[in-house]
Amino acid sequence: MPLVTTTEMFKKAYDGGYAIGAFNVNNMEIVQGITDACREENAPVILQVSKGARAYANRTYLKKLVEAAVIECPNIPIALHLDHGDSYETCVSCIEDGFTSVMIDASSKPFNENIEITKKVVEYAHDHGVVVEAELGALAGVEDEVQVSAADSHYTRPEEVEEFVARTGCDSLAIAIGTSHGAYKFTPDQCTRNAEGILVPPELRFDILDEIVKKLPGFPIVLHGSSSVPQDYVKMINTHGGKMPDAVGVPEDQLRKAAKLAVCKINIDSDLRLTMTGTIRQFFEEHPDKFDPREYLKPARANIKELVRHKLVDVLGCAGKA
Ligand code: G3H
Ligand code: 13P
Ligand code: ZN
Repeated sequence: MPLVTTTEMFKKAYDGGYAIGAFNVNNMEIVQGITDACREENAPVILQVSKGARAYANRTYLKKLVEAAVIECPNIPIALHLDHGDSYETCVSCIEDGFTSVMIDASSKPFNENIEITKKVVEYAHDHGVVVEAELGALAGVEDEVQVSAADSHYTRPEEVEEFVARTGCDSLAIAIGTSHGAYKFTPDQCTRNAEGILVPPELRFDILDEIVKKLPGFPIVLHGSSSVPQDYVKMINTHGGKMPDAVGVPEDQLRKAAKLAVCKINIDSDLRLTMTGTIRQFFEEHPDKFDPREYLKPARANIKELVRHKLVDVLGCAGKA
């Protein structure tokens, strides 16, 4: 089937109590690892491209890689989404390129300005059969060149969501309830320790999610910053010459709980990066004489596939839902 929008995916996900995985793609092996898992698990998927990814690979290559995945996976719905679109112009350019979904992230702007920009994108996108994700609230962490400190982050205000959605006409809403971008969440000083001495990060604010759902019944909610920082890969990186700090990520059981509620799209990028980097670092240490990129990218791709399979089956609940 051709690329799809997220409309049908989100409706089924909302009603079915699961979420669609939105995975960031930057090169061929990442596209293949993700979509091989989705094909085998019969899962719908959102492949998302950030502004930085588009600058890295250029606007043609990633689109063509995703088109290749569509040909290789004819039986699963695949949406191509712009992640963190920073302007009307970036959104228009992606729509011209054939993206089926765009995010306009004007969450750092004042409320009325966010509405104004989002509405403009929605009008253009809807005229072209494309859906729009918008954001209210500010996540901590790093995305592209923008770093939002914990002090500058703030949760989504439930009292604003109804007016925001009504005035912009957006199709889904990214909210801030305690997730955070990057692989450095949550550091030991942001956690407590349980009786066994294990680091426990702060609970996501399900109370805020509940309030939002009351204001927007049936409306698809998106969670960014949802990597869980797999400890095996952090360890793999650090035992093979890397230096990743102690961080524990968003607990997967909390993501599972969110997926059963109104959260229809869960964004995962850092976990893919950790998987790829850990695998390659280990390979190089074990095979110092190897220099063929295919030899070290192959296990990295295979491990991305297994990580994604785990997310689809155990976290998102979208396996078998294509
Ligand atoms: O939230 C942002 C994504 O992880 C994309 O990261 O801008 O480095 O491609 P990037
Ligand atoms: P992570 O950094 O937690 O993977 O978040 C990814 C994301 O939100 C992409 O938009
Ligand atoms: Zn994000």
